[in-house]
Amino acid sequence: MLAKVTSCALVGLEGVIVEVEVDTSRGMPSLVIVGLPDAAVKESSERVRAAVKNSSLVFPGKRITVNLAPADIRKAGPSYDLPIAVGVLIASEQAWPQAVEDALFVGELSLDGSVRHVNGILPIAALAHQQSIRRAFVPAVDAPEAALIDGLEVIPVEHLGQLVAHLQGLRSIPPYESDLDPSSLPPPQYAADFAEIKGQEHVKRALEVAAAGGHNVLMTGPPGAGKTLLARSMPSILPTMTIEETLEVTKIYSIAGLLPPDTPLIQHRPFRAPHHTISHAGLVGGGHFPRPGEISLAHRGVLFLDELPEFGTRTLEGLRQPIEDRKVVISRATGTLTFPANFIFVAAMNPCPCGYYGDPTHECTCSLSTISRYQKRISGPLLDRIDIHVEVPRVDYQKLTDERLGERSEAIRARVERARGVQRQRFADTPLSCNADMGPTEVRKICQLDETGRGLVRAAMQQLQMSARAFHRILKLSRTIADLAGSERIETAHLAEAIQYRPRRVV
Ligand SMILES: Nc1ncnc2c1ncn2[C@@H]1O[C@H](COP(=O)(O)OP(=O)(O)OP(=O)(O)O)[C@@H](O)[C@H]1O
Ligand SMILES: [Mg+2]
Repeated sequence: MLAKVTSCALVGLEGVIVEVEVDTSRGMPSLVIVGLPDAAVKESSERVRAAVKNSSLVFPGKRITVNLAPADIRKAGPSYDLPIAVGVLIASEQAWPQAVEDALFVGELSLDGSVRHVNGILPIAALAHQQSIRRAFVPAVDAPEAALIDGLEVIPVEHLGQLVAHLQGLRSIPPYESDLDPSSLPPPQYAADFAEIKGQEHVKRALEVAAAGGHNVLMTGPPGAGKTLLARSMPSILPTMTIEETLEVTKIYSIAGLLPPDTPLIQHRPFRAPHHTISHAGLVGGGHFPRPGEISLAHRGVLFLDELPEFGTRTLEGLRQPIEDRKVVISRATGTLTFPANFIFVAAMNPCPCGYYGDPTHECTCSLSTISRYQKRISGPLLDRIDIHVEVPRVDYQKLTDERLGERSEAIRARVERARGVQRQRFADTPLSCNADMGPTEVRKICQLDETGRGLVRAAMQQLQMSARAFHRILKLSRTIADLAGSERIETAHLAEAIQYRPRRVV
């Protein structure tokens, strides 16, 4: 007899429907899986056999063929265990085909028949809903994640035996009711409140502008000046995510298997700070079955690279294309995959190996050639993609022991939120979300300058020998500064602030 059960494969961030066909016929007892399965899918036959037996059900002593269609998509991971087991039970008439109509099944089986967590439940549930499938049978632990998709009936399955009793109509499993209260989730973690960081007002301002418009920042300064502290406090001033952004980010974490166990939803903008020993594939994504890298895990949030020159040159160059395109395309023999990678790039470095080049009070012990070699580890094209270059000087004793607190992160975040609100309205009918996302066409339309402004940019371009990219980036940055000031036009002061964030230090 032939049985058909619906399941799902993941290609990049998107789900694709997979029909699991199970056929039993006479012959030597065996179970063969075809349809481009990887090793974990092939091993499914052993898990299914044991799980069926240990759930007080009968594993048919027949020749069983399982086909995962369409055959041209590579199937990875253990999530097909559950649909294969259900298919085997239907083919051996222990459950009825009507029971699996209009339903999707995913789940890994353990040998005793209990159903275990699988990655990527959110995109799978999203696909089911999109394809008008009524209900999804998912591992009980993953039910809260699947329930994020409105209008899909989620049946939490703990054990294969329990599922079969449900399919036979003996004991039905009640659909999962979401009790997620977003306000009860813990607040984001950050190193310190901006109020507790002494001095460095201009750096805080730069980070505020970056957060408001999604611009990239490089902080340079001597050891102990507070670069790492400032960057790690940045989550405290990031604007809240929209519902769409939350789902986008959660999908990426779901596929990477990084969703925290206590909450099915990533509510706060991610802050990723990988160590400089990270590999190229770890940073931009890749591997045999491509997985999202740190740049995709930082999607809609911040990617912080501390001690920038310590990162491998090839690793850093891998950032160039995603910073520009806001996504990363990974090619494999089996096809290409696209992961989103729209992040604020924040980096920190010392000006030289000893750390004190340019410090007014501390002598630098590096030779000019050493300094030049150190700075050259970061290529011109990468520096050109950074809109805001700020120096972080040492804070003196007086400032550091000043008891007065600075402006609280909450107040800064309120300004950032207002500026984002303006941008949301501006880009309401477009796929863009903030000023940094603008392409040349939008820049031409939205970032109009008056006569004085044009003169100022012309002079700056000549003096700083800026590229066309730098020109566009200055315009976008000044648009954000104007938004923060609540100004409809880009005034000369806004433009001047944007220009002074361009690098001018050359050794
Ligand atoms: N502006 C500041 N206000 C309050 N504390 C500060 C400030 N700057 C530095 N500190 C203190 O110094 C510590 C070290 O700062 P941080 O690690 O941010 O320095 P850094 O600039 O990253 O140095 P390095 O170049 O060596 O990495 C902080 O954890 C904090 O305790
Ligand atoms: Mg540091």
